[in-house]
Amino acid sequence: MSFATVIVGHGSRDAEAEAAFLQWMDLYRSLHPGRIFAHAFLELSPPFIGEVLRQLAEEHEDIVIVPLSLLPAAHVKNDIPLTLHEFRRQFPRPRFTVTQALGLHAALIQAVQRQVERCPQVDVASWTLLVVGRGASDPDANGQLYQIARVLAESAGMKQLEIAYIGITWPRLGETLQRLARLRPQGILMVPYLLFPGVLANRVAQMFDAFLQQHPWIQGQSVGPLGVTTALCEAVEDRIAEARGTPRLALPCVSCQYRVPLGALQDQVGGLRSLLWSVRHQATHQQGKPHQHAHAAMKKHVLVCTNYDCNSKGATVIAEELQRSLRKQRLHRDYRVTRTSCLGRCGEGPTVAVYPDGIWYRNFQKEDVPALVAQHLQRDQLLSERIDSIL
Ligand code: FES
Repeated sequence: MSFATVIVGHGSRDAEAEAAFLQWMDLYRSLHPGRIFAHAFLELSPPFIGEVLRQLAEEHEDIVIVPLSLLPAAHVKNDIPLTLHEFRRQFPRPRFTVTQALGLHAALIQAVQRQVERCPQVDVASWTLLVVGRGASDPDANGQLYQIARVLAESAGMKQLEIAYIGITWPRLGETLQRLARLRPQGILMVPYLLFPGVLANRVAQMFDAFLQQHPWIQGQSVGPLGVTTALCEAVEDRIAEARGTPRLALPCVSCQYRVPLGALQDQVGGLRSLLWSVRHQATHQQGKPHQHAHAAMKKHVLVCTNYDCNSKGATVIAEELQRSLRKQRLHRDYRVTRTSCLGRCGEGPTVAVYPDGIWYRNFQKEDVPALVAQHLQRDQLLSERIDSIL
C-alpha cells in the first residue's frame, strides 16, 4: 500500500512563521528520503487541508494526517476529524489515520532543556521558571501544559514554577508577570512553549522585555520557541508509529525519568538504577499474574547505550533495528529494549547489556541484531565474540 504523510500546520499570516514551518518540513523530509510527505494548513495560508487530502486520496491507499500541534485543542479534536469524516465518505478506498497532538514528549522536553543550558546566567536554584502556552478553550490542552511545565521544571532543577497563557484562558501572561513582580523573584526564565517564531512568540517576547524594563531589579532571560529542530521530527515519528499501531516504545513512559535523560534527573537513567528499576518492576508485577497489558513482566531487558560515543558509532540505529526486529517477530512484549545514557564503557561501544543475565557486549553492530534475538534472547546462547563482561 502506498503510504503518504500529511503534516497539518495551523497556518499564519506571518511570513516568518510560515518560513520556519517550511524549513522544518525540509528537515523532516531530508531525514526520511523515499517517504512521501505533503503539508497543509487549517487556515490562513494555502495549501489548505481539503485540497491536499483530495490530491493524495487519488494516489495513495494509506494516508496519515499529523496535526502539528503541541497540545490537543479544538483543531485536533474537532476540525480535522470533521474534515476526515467527509473525506472518508467521498473516498472509501484509502485508509485515513490521524495522530494525536504532540503532547508530552521526551524529545521536546530535552530540546527546551538544551535551550535552557545555553543560558549560563540563569541560576536554577533561585530563579523562577515561567512557562507560557498559547491557551485554549479545552481544559485538556490547558492541563497538559501544566504537566509539561512541571516536567520541564524538574528536569531543569528549578523549584519555582509559574504557568501562564497568551490568550483565551487564565492566568494570562500580563497578570502572572504582575503577580510575580510582587514576589520579588531574583530572576525569571521565560519559556514560551510554542512551535515556531511568529506573531505569538514576538508578542510574548515584547511583553517580557517591557516587564524587565519596568522592573530592573529582576533579572530575566527567555528562550525562543522550539523552532526548526530534529526533536520535533522525533516526536512526530512517535505519534505516527502510535497511530499506525506500531509504537516505537513498548511502555507508555516516554518522559519517564528512568528511560530518558531529563536534565537534572539524568542520573536516574541507565546502568544500575535502570536494572534495579527493571528487577523491582518485574518482581512486583509477578504478584498480579496472570495479566496481559503493557506492563506484563518481560523475559529479558536489553539496554542500548545511545549516549554520545556509542551513538556516533550507530547505537541509535542498533536500538531501532532491535525494536523493529522484535516487533516483527511479535516478541516485543517478552523482550524490551531501552536506550540509556552512558554505561561507562566509552571507546568500547556501541555498548549493549542484557538483563537479568548481566551480559555486556562491546563493539556491538547492527548486523549482530538477528543473532542477539535468535540466539541470546530466545535460546540463551551468548554472542561470545562480542562479550565485554559478565556480571
Ligand atoms: S557512550 Fe556508550 S558507554 Fe559511554
